[in-house]
Amino acid sequence: MPHPYVLLSAAVSLDGYLDDTGPERLLLSSPADFDRVDEVRAASDAILVGAGTLRADNPRLLVNSPDRRAARVAEGRPAYPLKVTVSGSGDLDPAANFWHTGGAKVVYTTDKGADRARGLGLAADVVPLGPDLDWRALLTHLRAGYGVERLMVEGGGRVHTQLLQQGLADELQLVVAPLFVGQPHAPRLFGPGGYQAGRLRLLETRRIEDVVLTRYEPTAPGTGPLPAAADHHWLRLACELAALCPPSGTAFSVGAVVVAADGTELARGHSREGGDPVVHAEEAALGKLDPADPRLAGATVYSSLEPCAHRASRPRPCARLILDAGVRRVVTAWREPDTFVTDADGTGLLTARGVEVLVLPEHARHAQEPNAHLRP
Ligand SMILES: NC(=O)c1ccc[n+]([C@@H]2O[C@H](COP(=O)([O-])OP(=O)(O)OC[C@H]3O[C@@H](n4cnc5c(N)ncnc54)[C@H](OP(=O)(O)O)[C@@H]3O)[C@@H](O)[C@H]2O)c1
Repeated sequence: MPHPYVLLSAAVSLDGYLDDTGPERLLLSSPADFDRVDEVRAASDAILVGAGTLRADNPRLLVNSPDRRAARVAEGRPAYPLKVTVSGSGDLDPAANFWHTGGAKVVYTTDKGADRARGLGLAADVVPLGPDLDWRALLTHLRAGYGVERLMVEGGGRVHTQLLQQGLADELQLVVAPLFVGQPHAPRLFGPGGYQAGRLRLLETRRIEDVVLTRYEPTAPGTGPLPAAADHHWLRLACELAALCPPSGTAFSVGAVVVAADGTELARGHSREGGDPVVHAEEAALGKLDPADPRLAGATVYSSLEPCAHRASRPRPCARLILDAGVRRVVTAWREPDTFVTDADGTGLLTARGVEVLVLPEHARHAQEPNAHLRP
């Protein structure tokens, strides 16, 4: 994966605040929940907070449990996750706890901010990302430069807001504490701006003493040529559906999901579904929808293998079915090899007619697993 898995973690009051306006950090979680957070930290390769949180809370961001640190070391990992902060200004307090506790540290900043941060003598890597701080560049660098596969983001509100609005968060872990703040100038978890239109997927609810943990997954597909975190989730589902196909020696096993712009799943399908020996995944999924469904124009089709461009068993190949349905975006894991058809180019057929096609090769192995017997 080019990016780490990004997990946003926060605790809020019943009226949606992250903190109050007092000088001390407001403790929202319960003791057992702080221990849960410690466990999530221990399972992460890196922990990120914004410079605003460093200034307000002066956190250490450690794995506090000696047993969890020992388990990390036994697995060949550093005792503490990499500590990461973001600062546009580079205006950081070198005496803050962040720099003097735990393991390795990195500051992502702007070119200007780097000049300032480098002058502070911080025991940390200072990585400039250009004139502005680009979150995709940051995540790509964390993955490629530090091998971070799992990133825990512990706030604050401005950082969480950007990652969610930019479709870069894989999961939100939210703890609601039974107290009110009631101060209009206190920091809120999420600021104004453009969020996904529809509903997130609820993954879990858990009572922990007097707080409640809820875990959510964003569902809205990306909108352009760059994948959103939800695109990976849906493509993973398409690959899982491929494993449901009755095996065949003469056709691929493929899964497909059609998802509306607001993240609503419209239909799913897989090859040879429902006893039809020749039906394709995209055909099976689109066949469950009313062709006049207005949501199709904004929908994304996820298919574990690129939609077919040539077909003997039915008059219209899947790329044509997608065009006829009015779908404008396709995400796939695997370009069709020459196993059954030479130079099959469903992607070319779709892009020539203005459909955005994203190929995410990091999912190719998953898509190929149910087809191993075909030696594609
Ligand atoms: N309850 C909880 O779970 C929880 C968790 C964490 C924090 N908090 C609370 O949240 C509050 C802090 O939140 P916050 O929103 O003020 O701060 P924040 O999100 O922690 O940090 C914001 C800062 O990060 C840098 N930054 C973020 N995005 C940037 C971008 N795109 N380009 C350049 N720089 C960027 C900037 O640093 P520079 O100013 O250096 O440019 C910005 O001022 C505190 O009150 C804290 O107690 C609560």
